[in-house]
Amino acid sequence: MARTFYFLQKRMGLTIGLRRRDPDKYKANNFFNNFLNDFIYWLLILDDVRNRAYENSMARNINAKSKVLEIGTGNKAFLTLMAHKRSPLLLTTIEENKESYLKARRLIEGQNAENIKIVYGNAKEISLDEKYDVLVQEIFGSIGSAEGGAVAVSETKARLLTSDCKFIPDSCLTYMVPVSTFKPGAAERVLNYLVSDNIGEVGFFRIYNFPKKLILSKPQVFEDLTFCNPIVLKEELVLQFVITQSGAFDGVLFFIELNFDNVEKVNALNDITNWSTPYVRVFEKPVQVEKGDVVEITSFKDLSTEDPVYEIRIEVTTPRAKYKGNFKWGSRNRWAIKTDDARAGSLETIPDKADYSV
Ligand SMILES: C[S@@+](CC[C@H](N)C(=O)[O-])C[C@H]1O[C@@H](n2cnc3c(N)ncnc32)[C@H](O)[C@@H]1O
Repeated sequence: MARTFYFLQKRMGLTIGLRRRDPDKYKANNFFNNFLNDFIYWLLILDDVRNRAYENSMARNINAKSKVLEIGTGNKAFLTLMAHKRSPLLLTTIEENKESYLKARRLIEGQNAENIKIVYGNAKEISLDEKYDVLVQEIFGSIGSAEGGAVAVSETKARLLTSDCKFIPDSCLTYMVPVSTFKPGAAERVLNYLVSDNIGEVGFFRIYNFPKKLILSKPQVFEDLTFCNPIVLKEELVLQFVITQSGAFDGVLFFIELNFDNVEKVNALNDITNWSTPYVRVFEKPVQVEKGDVVEITSFKDLSTEDPVYEIRIEVTTPRAKYKGNFKWGSRNRWAIKTDDARAGSLETIPDKADYSV
């Protein structure tokens, strides 16, 4: 399955779009959830772009004297065993998911690797005897912080890492850009019908292989996780996008860029990887924008918990009219809300209001 997923994109150039599903419908379905978990891990293991970047960066930054900490072993201890090949002095890996921890522990024990220590728990709460000079981690969502990685690293730094610790990767930037309506072609429609709900609705979609011709402006940084700097956990940001090509604007595309020690880069828009490029479709009826029009996006982020909350408020000013649209979503609990859209206002589930006071 995971091989087919990459094959369809690489060889056939297909775009795959998955609408975020209602978690309540699926949480009782163990078969579906086990299948999904397994599928996601295979996507990681077969992600050549990601794995090459980690491997090359480890070759440059881990040596026999390094003390390496990993957050998030995963059930296959994939990056743990990759780091182990560099023979660091000490390698400690922390996993918070019990099942993954037990599977990974069995795998690591099978390697007779005495310098690997696996610890069960959340990195935010674990105390260790040593301080580490390299941090390896891959808890990035398709919006960098969506898996709770920002708060995990932020709270681990002072306790477990040396002041000159190297981070693999160094940073994860999430970009945002206004886009025009994604209309799947015939083959894509069949595929999207099989794997997803209606792509034409307002909502949060995971898109793989997003067609670049739909990008309407120059992408700008929505979130900057540069790990050696203090990590901002609550932020309000206002960005103005000048439209560079006319089109039917209806939403915003996000994509991450992982920077590994200034050499290696993984970019979810340009590379075929396991990270999707989330497409938040805000306007039911697209707004026709022309070159030179301005789209202003005010965004709010609260990354202080493991269920980050995001909101975007869009204002489009054209010489003809002004349009507004909002969208708010949580990541792990996966709710979504669209509010006071001037053209097509409709409320979905309303979660507790997040407190954005900084
Ligand atoms: C995307 S998987 C990566 C697995 C593996 N490192 C790899 O790259 O193939 C992320 C793993 O991190 C774990 N994780 C996420 N946040 C964590 C935290 N705060 N402390 C410990 N483990 C965490 C998850 O349970 C999951 O197994």
